[in-house]
Amino acid sequence: MSTTLAQILDGKQLSAQVRAQIGEQIQAGMGAGKARPGLATVLVGDDPASHIYVRNKRRACDETGMQNFHIELAEDVGQAALLQQIVELNLNPEVHGILVQLPLPKGFDYDENQVLATIDPAKDADGFHPANQGALMQGTPAPIPCTPKGVMQLLAESGMELKGKRAVVVGRSNIVGKPVALLLLEQHCTVTICHSRTTDLAAEVANADVVVAAVGVAELVKGAWIKPGAVVLDVGINRNADGKLVGDVEFGPAAARAGWITPVPGGVGPMTIAMLLQNTLEAAWRD
Ligand code: GUN
Repeated sequence: MSTTLAQILDGKQLSAQVRAQIGEQIQAGMGAGKARPGLATVLVGDDPASHIYVRNKRRACDETGMQNFHIELAEDVGQAALLQQIVELNLNPEVHGILVQLPLPKGFDYDENQVLATIDPAKDADGFHPANQGALMQGTPAPIPCTPKGVMQLLAESGMELKGKRAVVVGRSNIVGKPVALLLLEQHCTVTICHSRTTDLAAEVANADVVVAAVGVAELVKGAWIKPGAVVLDVGINRNADGKLVGDVEFGPAAARAGWITPVPGGVGPMTIAMLLQNTLEAAWRD
């Protein structure tokens, strides 16, 4: 057994704090005559994990006093009908944020990029529209993707000075890896993005003051690789061979070396939902 030395970055607690604040802001804003913020959730098909994620997002809306418009579509609804739904949500003045849960069902000819590009960029609660992704790349204000935004808030909790630090991001998805790398760069980190073709992942991670693991492989990042004192942010949610929920990082051995670490569950995951609500609130009350 390894001894836990790292401080835990508690996403469950921070998320609850942010959601409570959002609830208070909504109450106060509506008392002052502002519109009730509304989030539309669009779920296509029967993927059980997606259903759980969307259910949690809808619950968070209810808890904070945000309105939720939920649309569930059959897996074979087709691209045209899906786009039509999005256009209707774009036109609905009560809807301020739109989220289409990804991934879209496999085996049908959905064009995910076209779906994301159809969402009104001003209502893009996920920050996945190409205009908003472009704004992130340029460093201009735009909705920031929820998981990367949550990672950065947890990282801020560690209090680590980021300027000049080495950050390694494991994973290069459009949803997490690429945007989180840009946000770290904005904070003046020296950023390396690693992926399945990286030849010596151990050596890359061993150099890192900040590690963001977002690759979706159970315990790929070994504890022994972690630089002593590093901040480790684990985005992964996987089942290991014993059916246990684990991250992309070997938690016990990593916690014995890291300065700060996020648990799985209860780390980055809950932050994603809090950031989604924050993006929707900002979209609702933007001048
Ligand atoms: N699938 C996994 N993460 C996300 C997310 O943050 N937003 C959406 N829409 N789908 C996802």
